[in-house]
Amino acid sequence: MALDGRLCYGGDYNPEQWPAEVWEQDVELMRRARVTLVTVGVFAWSRLEPAPGRYTFDWLDRVLDLLHAGGIRVALATPTASPPPWFSLAHPDALPVTADGVRLHHGSRDTYCAAAPAYRAAARRITARLAERYADHPALALWHVHNEYGTICHCPHAEAGFRRWLRERHGDLDGLNDAWTTSFWSQHHSDWAQVSTPRATQYLPNPSQVLDFRRYWSDELLAAYVEQRDLLRAATPAVPVTTNYVLGDWVPVDHARWAAEVDLVAIDHYPSDAGPSVEEQIALAADLARGWARHGARHHARAADGDLPGTRGSWLLIESAPNPTYTRGGTHTRVPGRMARHSLAYVARGSRGAMFFQWRASRGGAELFHSALVPHAGPDSRIFREAVELGGLLDRLAEVDAGVVEAPVAVAWDAASGWALQQRALPSDRIHHHTEVALVHRALRRAGYACDPVLPGDPLAGYALLVLPALYLADDATAAWVRDHVHGGGHVLVGYLSGVADEHARIRLGGYPGAYRDVLGVRVEEFHPLGDGEEVPLTGGGTGRFWAETVRLAGAEPVDAYAAGVLAGQPAVTRHRYGDGVAWYVSTRPDEDTYRRLLDEAARAAGASPTCPDAPPGVEAVRRRGPEASWLFLLNHTGSAQRVPTAGIDLLTGAVVEDAVTLPAGGVAVVRERAGA
Ligand code: GLA
Repeated sequence: MALDGRLCYGGDYNPEQWPAEVWEQDVELMRRARVTLVTVGVFAWSRLEPAPGRYTFDWLDRVLDLLHAGGIRVALATPTASPPPWFSLAHPDALPVTADGVRLHHGSRDTYCAAAPAYRAAARRITARLAERYADHPALALWHVHNEYGTICHCPHAEAGFRRWLRERHGDLDGLNDAWTTSFWSQHHSDWAQVSTPRATQYLPNPSQVLDFRRYWSDELLAAYVEQRDLLRAATPAVPVTTNYVLGDWVPVDHARWAAEVDLVAIDHYPSDAGPSVEEQIALAADLARGWARHGARHHARAADGDLPGTRGSWLLIESAPNPTYTRGGTHTRVPGRMARHSLAYVARGSRGAMFFQWRASRGGAELFHSALVPHAGPDSRIFREAVELGGLLDRLAEVDAGVVEAPVAVAWDAASGWALQQRALPSDRIHHHTEVALVHRALRRAGYACDPVLPGDPLAGYALLVLPALYLADDATAAWVRDHVHGGGHVLVGYLSGVADEHARIRLGGYPGAYRDVLGVRVEEFHPLGDGEEVPLTGGGTGRFWAETVRLAGAEPVDAYAAGVLAGQPAVTRHRYGDGVAWYVSTRPDEDTYRRLLDEAARAAGASPTCPDAPPGVEAVRRRGPEASWLFLLNHTGSAQRVPTAGIDLLTGAVVEDAVTLPAGGVAVVRERAGA
């Protein structure tokens, strides 16, 4: 953080799984690995409150004292993600109900309904007791509320909460009926009692209802978080409060909007080997976290000197896996050296350190084969040796915490557009906002540009180019945001399925994309989704996949065109001067090379330049700039040595870099750049 001047390094520590003798060994091993921060107590509710109102804090007192004596700071968790068995037995109405109407039983974790009053009250009670007991403990550096908010519920409490939320949003039933287009399929509501959560139903559900439920549930979970946060803030005004975000399309949380309520954005990230490369997944997750963190800036002022939080846009990787991660179909092992390189890849993109799940591998329980910094084999192991090495590397990087990641491109990201594009009645079920963001991110990364995710409405000063990848929803304010930006001289590149619908997921009529037609100088008459494996050649030499459109020019000039099929000769990519700016439209998903070239061209035309134009392919370059210095992270993801021109000091080795650094295969350099180099 600078946490006492050091980056965060450590992970989830679950001493309740171990006898007390192990705790002392743990602290000794943590010191060897130069651990600075551990998260304690995440799932310890039944050990802290074994019966209603009976608290057993003695073991936690001892653990915190031991950690403090070892110089290790603590992110103290509230244990509310896993209520004890006594709670669920006493309050069956607080167990969650699925969309199918099945009430789940105790037996795993996260088995509660966040809208149930009994759950909320019990969560407040244990939180208040923890706050009271540990407010003055010197090891306390951060409050970690709950764990990975995400459980969805359709019980009567959730339904009542949904109705309250809908009244706030839509005012009365007329407003609701209009927003949800209930005139279709006889869904008109004449009484609030008829309004339910989107439970399992016979055929297609109402997309506006589904979208509103996702929004509501994010707000309900946020309210549960805020209740705990406020208790903690009241007890310890100088200690920052966070919760760990879990990522994924299923997550019913609008992370960007939550960022205003956390003092430090913290994410858990478990990339898989399936799909895009692990390095791409890391870069995207890290950039998203940074983008979300920028929305938390107003709280950063609360930090005590030299402690969390810090620079604008900084965030924390609070959990990741040191070695195998569970994926569908098994686990994959990280090859030697990857733990350090990948951890530094997050730091490059603004993380205030690297934390893991978990410190010591469990002996039993549901995640007994999950990797840990101290594996089942014990400290005499490759993983622990790598953990020690990583601790040493992070120790040398504390100064980079002052640096803000430089990014000349903004990419719009919006949870609600993501949710809306998950609805089932779209012309293609293969176009998702998150996938489209990932494709743009990949193309920009390959072209060497850093980018910041932004929310509709965010300030755009300082960004050369704004990209909208399938930003499906646009209210009038979003349409005006884009229009004013371009009119005032900004450059924007809009992808298909952006601005097609309003905030209620209803189509904006008159030709797609209704929100941006005027700025783009085009009018899309028809969609032509492409089938599996179907491609359409483009006159520029590339191909389009997944999606194509009938684009009519209304002021724009064609940049690329469809070269065959029903759309032969018609524009596929266009450019339009609007006011003092430029607006590009891309009506198909170009192949990777074409997309990279197109984004490169649009970025250059807008005045952006790559972070390190001379970096060879496969070497990732990210720059963090502080008030007095800048740091160039160079990560060699290739299997051979790579030379990159730069000058300064490599913080990892202490070596002076005169004119170039040679990175071994899989190697990393963090160069404090020589001024003017
Ligand atoms: C998440 C949770 C942890 C653990 C890991 C497993 O990060 O917060 O408790 O379950 O996933 O990957």
